[in-house]
Amino acid sequence: TEDPFPRDDAFDTTPAFLREGYLFVGNRCDRFGTDGFRARLMLEEITCIRGREASELFYGGDRFTRQGAMPPTTVSLLQGKESVQALDGAAHEHRKGMFMALMTEDALARGADLFADAWREYVAKHAGEEIVLHDAARLMLTRAALAWTGVEAEDEATRLLATELGEMIDNAASFGPHYIKARFLRERCERWATEVIEDIREGRRSGDGPAGAMARHRDPTGELLDANVVAVELINLLRPMVAIGRYVIFLALELHRRPEWRRRIAEGADPHAFVQEVRRTAPFFPVIAGRARKSFEGMGHRFEEGDWVMLDLYGTNRDARMWDAPEEFRPERFDGREIDPFEMVPQGGGDFLSDHRCPGEWLTIRVMETAARLLAEAGYEVPDQDLGVDLSKMPALPASGFVLRLP
Ligand code: HEM
Repeated sequence: TEDPFPRDDAFDTTPAFLREGYLFVGNRCDRFGTDGFRARLMLEEITCIRGREASELFYGGDRFTRQGAMPPTTVSLLQGKESVQALDGAAHEHRKGMFMALMTEDALARGADLFADAWREYVAKHAGEEIVLHDAARLMLTRAALAWTGVEAEDEATRLLATELGEMIDNAASFGPHYIKARFLRERCERWATEVIEDIREGRRSGDGPAGAMARHRDPTGELLDANVVAVELINLLRPMVAIGRYVIFLALELHRRPEWRRRIAEGADPHAFVQEVRRTAPFFPVIAGRARKSFEGMGHRFEEGDWVMLDLYGTNRDARMWDAPEEFRPERFDGREIDPFEMVPQGGGDFLSDHRCPGEWLTIRVMETAARLLAEAGYEVPDQDLGVDLSKMPALPASGFVLRLP
């Protein structure tokens, strides 16, 4: 049978990927009229796929490893060797259990409350000022993340950490000088986190909370993890909690465009559907790449062991076969709708334990719901500014970072 995936015959599509950003995979699938195609990216063969079937193929069944799938620059900023992302099969499931065990109902509520505390403190201190919400949200979230993980830090250390974690997120897809600076900050951050873990183990710091739980976690053979590996996993909690700031900006943007929703949420309406629609539509993780662990057939295509495959997360969230008018922002679409594990994948899909789906998804949603209420209630003004979102920048953000004037 014929391979349904056509080939983009450009010598190399890297420039196109950097130019088209979030739309790269979708533009080609639309042009070919398929859900997949083959191309050369960074001088290597790649298969790009999108849609619900693609997401089930990518996430259901542990077919892909993340090892050797991302540019080494991205890996060094976002992942780290021997961390949960680098593991597969039983070892991954065991380590992932450590993360999922942290996500109890109490812990989720505490995460949201800590964010609310940090918000109120910040807003009280900066009353009447014009602020850039992106910077402010990062600082608030760094405070909340440290408190949530159980790591005490002075104001100065918190600020430094907010910068370090922020740079890792902003530059996850950069090369050159920006990458080098972020990499330098990442190294400093890892040294700090390793010291935190050693301090917990030696009783110089409290071991309450997730940082302590990780310091005490044992691998399947009963051994404690290396302090450096625990440090990387601690950063794997802190950094993405700070990254929720990007979603907070898109929340603010959508609330700004919809005063009626802002009013309804301020009056007590449940913000859940609004938050879900922000997660579905906001340009955050454009794609996730993996390498086939073994050969298999799927979507009519033969995937060979070692094949490099990229799933279009952004495009899958906007698949017109699953979402009516996918480009429109419509929170009502979530009313009474069950979401299956593969159709909405802003934070990955499939099963939390056996797949690489983001373990922080529930916490993200809870923090965003709290942020939606706090934003809706706060009587801020939005001065004229450039709120345009450039989809060739990954990750994307409104140009101004969302400036607002606090009451
Ligand atoms: C994995 C997105 C928040 C911790 C992932 C993945 C995505 C993602 C796309 C990769 C899935 C894959 O490899 O297939 C996001 C977004 C967030 C967010 C958009 C919003 C800010 C969080 C939070 C935490 C977290 C709050 C922790 C508290 C992790 C970890 C992994 C992961 C540890 C690796 C999981 C694994 O390999 O099994 N996330 N995430 N993330 N995320 Fe998140």
